[in-house]
Amino acid sequence: MVKKDRRKKTFKIIRSFLDALFPLGKKTVSEMSVRWSFKANQWEPTRSQLLQISSIIQPEEKARIARFHFISDAKSSLIGRLLIRKLVNVKTGAPNDVIKLARDEHNKPILISPKFNELLEKPENNEVEINHAQENEEVENKDKQDSSCDSPAIKNLNFNVSHQGKFVVLVSEPSAVQVGIDVMNVEKPGRITESVDDYFRLMNRQFTENEWEQIKTLDGSVPHYFHNKAKLTNFTRFWCLKESYVKAVGVGIVIDLRSIDFTTKSELGSDLVTDTTIKVNGVPSPEWKFEERFLDDLHIVTVAKCYALPDNENNGDPSCVPDFENVTLDFLTEGMTTLGDEDQDWVDEFLKKK
Ligand SMILES: CC(C)(COP(=O)(O)OP(=O)(O)OC[C@H]1O[C@@H](n2cnc3c(N)ncnc32)[C@H](O)[C@@H]1OP(=O)(O)O)[C@@H](O)C(=O)NCCC(=O)NCCS
Repeated sequence: MVKKDRRKKTFKIIRSFLDALFPLGKKTVSEMSVRWSFKANQWEPTRSQLLQISSIIQPEEKARIARFHFISDAKSSLIGRLLIRKLVNVKTGAPNDVIKLARDEHNKPILISPKFNELLEKPENNEVEINHAQENEEVENKDKQDSSCDSPAIKNLNFNVSHQGKFVVLVSEPSAVQVGIDVMNVEKPGRITESVDDYFRLMNRQFTENEWEQIKTLDGSVPHYFHNKAKLTNFTRFWCLKESYVKAVGVGIVIDLRSIDFTTKSELGSDLVTDTTIKVNGVPSPEWKFEERFLDDLHIVTVAKCYALPDNENNGDPSCVPDFENVTLDFLTEGMTTLGDEDQDWVDEFLKKK
C-alpha cells in the first residue's frame, strides 16, 4: 500500500514537472478512460448559448431535439450530443467540423468520421495534442489511478451516453471492447401511481427469480417506508445493470431481459462496487464487468464493460476506475469549430419549450 502511494506520488511529481516544462504536453490516446457527468437540471440555457450550440451539432440532431415536447428532454439530449462531440474532439484531436456522428440500426450513436481505428493504426498518431486545460483535467483523473492499472488498450473509440433526472453521463473505456452506461433516479417514476409492490408486479417479467430475491431481501421487521425505499433502490440498481448491459451490446431493450441474470455481492452504498457478476443464457460471463455507484443521494449510475481479455486482474479493480468528473457547458463548447450558421429559428423553438 505504502509502495503504491509512493509510486502515485512520484508519478504526480513527474507529471507536474513535465507539465511545467512542456505546457502543451502530449498524451497517449489509449490512456484516456473517461467518465463525465453534466447536471442538466442546473442549466438554464441562454439564447447566446443555444445560438452557439445550434452551429456545432449536426442538422439531423437539431431536428430530432426540436421534436421533444419537454425542455428537460431537449436539454438532456442536446448535452448528450455535446458530450460525444467533445469526447471525440479530445481523443482524436479532430476539429468539431470534421466529426460526423450517425446512428446504427438500433439507434445507437456511432462515429463515422474521423476514422479512429485507422488513426490509431499509424503509430505516430497514437499521441495527440490536446489543450492544456483538457490535459490538466485528464491528468487529475489519471492521477487517481495507479499506473499499474493500464490494461491493454484496444483500437476502439467506444462511448455511450445516458440521461435521466438531473444528470447526463458519458463513458468511454479504451480497454473494453464494448461499453454501456445507465443513470437512474431511485424514486418511483411520478407517472406510476401503483404501490411499490404493484409496480414490481408490473415489472415481474423483466427480472429473473434470482434477481427478485435480491431486490426483495429485506424482512418485515423493517418499517414500511424504509422497506419500500430500500426495495426501490435495489430495483433501480438491477434495472441500471440490465440497461447498461443492453446498451453496451447495442441492441437496447429488445432482448428478453430474463436471459441476463445478475448476482450482486456487495451492498451499494457510498463506495464504488465492481464485483457484481452476470450470467447470459445461464452461462457465467466473466468478460463482463460492472461499475455501480451513486452519483448523488438519488441517482445510481452503472457502467457495463466487456473485455477481450477477461482474465486481466485490473478489469474489475475499483482503484483502476476513474471518478465521474462534472463538466461544464464552457468545457463542452470551448474551441468547437462550427458546422454551419447559427440557427435563430431553432433557438426560438427551443426557448418556447416548457
Ligand atoms: C437504448 C435504450 C435502452 C435507451 O434507454 P433509456 O433509458 O430510454 O435512455 P438512456 O438515457 O439510458 O440512453 C439514451 C441514450 O442512449 C444512446 N442510445 C440510443 N440507442 C441506443 C442503443 N441501441 N444502444 C446503446 N445506446 C443507445 C443515445 O445516446 C441515447 O440518447 P439520445 O436518445 O438523446 O440520443 C432504449 O431506448 C431501448 O431499449 N431502445 C430499443 C431500441 C429501439 O427500439 N430502437 C429503435 C428506436 S428508433
